[in-house]
Amino acid sequence: MELLSATLARVKPSPTIAVTTKAAELKAAGRDIIGLGAGEPDFDTPQNIKDAAVAAIAAGKTKYTAVDGIAELKQAICAKFKRDNGLDYKPSQVSVGTGGKQILFNALMATMNPGEEVVIPAPYWVSYPDMVLLAGGTPVIAPATLEDNFKLTPAALEAAITPKTKWFIFNSPSNPTGAGYSRDELKALTDVLMRHPHVWVMSDDMYEHLAYDGFEFCTPAEVEPALYERTLTTNGVSKAYAMTGWRIGYAAGPEKLISAMRKIQSQSTSNPCTISQWAAVEALNGTQDYISENNKMFVRRRNLVVKMLSEIDGITCPTPEGAFYVYPSIAGLIGKTTAAGTRITNDEEFATALLEETGVAVVFGAAFGLSPNFRVSYATSDDALKEACTRIQKFCAKLT
Ligand SMILES: Cc1ncc(COP(=O)(O)O)c(C=O)c1O
Repeated sequence: MELLSATLARVKPSPTIAVTTKAAELKAAGRDIIGLGAGEPDFDTPQNIKDAAVAAIAAGKTKYTAVDGIAELKQAICAKFKRDNGLDYKPSQVSVGTGGKQILFNALMATMNPGEEVVIPAPYWVSYPDMVLLAGGTPVIAPATLEDNFKLTPAALEAAITPKTKWFIFNSPSNPTGAGYSRDELKALTDVLMRHPHVWVMSDDMYEHLAYDGFEFCTPAEVEPALYERTLTTNGVSKAYAMTGWRIGYAAGPEKLISAMRKIQSQSTSNPCTISQWAAVEALNGTQDYISENNKMFVRRRNLVVKMLSEIDGITCPTPEGAFYVYPSIAGLIGKTTAAGTRITNDEEFATALLEETGVAVVFGAAFGLSPNFRVSYATSDDALKEACTRIQKFCAKLT
């Protein structure tokens, strides 16, 4: 009998993790590598949050908790949804998991049946399609183009919906493009969803607080209150509070769905790390001041990267509203040959040659469902970004 499952054969490992691993291996082997692949802030978790975790350990808060989160954290999450999004949720409508990733996974595992579809706009976060496949569903990719600043049009959403659609996954600001939907742009999408009452909405608001130039974040259940009853609003502390390693994500939605997600979690991981939950209470209830400080740094870095990449002939790099990614197109470089003699016919070859010939690690666009592009994470120092962009400029200048 075959050891590995048929389900496993349907999914692939995360390409972003693969790029980060490859860059780390080359670095360990002594190569001069600049990694622009990682999806996490380069600064440390704020001190007040670390202190809360230490205090939790000292107070012996080190045992199992309720499966989907302690009451104090659920209260803090309800207060956050009210404060930031104008959304009213009761603690019984809240689920806390081991990262935003587990929350999304639980929701899909709890709801998908074979043959049912999930509409995912591309470019997408790499895990969405594979999570849908693991849960037994079928991803339906709805393309968004560079011309539309990587934002899904209402017509493209309408075209992707069928009678089998169970979920529409929405992510703004987006990983990998940084694109953030304005209220009007989102309303145009929720108007489409209002015409299809069988479709549920999974809003991944992970990059909510990483928004620049006065961009006003909005989320579907807030923009169209009539969607509240069929929306799961998901979020987490990973990106805004530089807490990627603490593994706390959360969601709020209808009780029936939240209790189904609890059932999945109760038979897989049980509660998320107790100490991290107490740290997350402080993250949500404590000062939020450093978010705007960090954002000033991110804007500066975004502008630096967009400027330097836009100076390259053959690269088009839109300026995104948020997150810490840019997603330049290399359409003008396809068919050219590198100094080392590699002909670039797609974005994966571009990223591989860039890494081998210059030591700069980026993630190729095909991994995110829209080519020919690459993703740069600018969550690294200004000096590293300047050096990386200079290397990319030189690499491209030598293309023939
Ligand atoms: C769009 C998006 N959603 C969810 C996550 C998952 O975050 P977490 O680290 O909390 O699992 C990520 C992390 O990269 C992300 O980019």
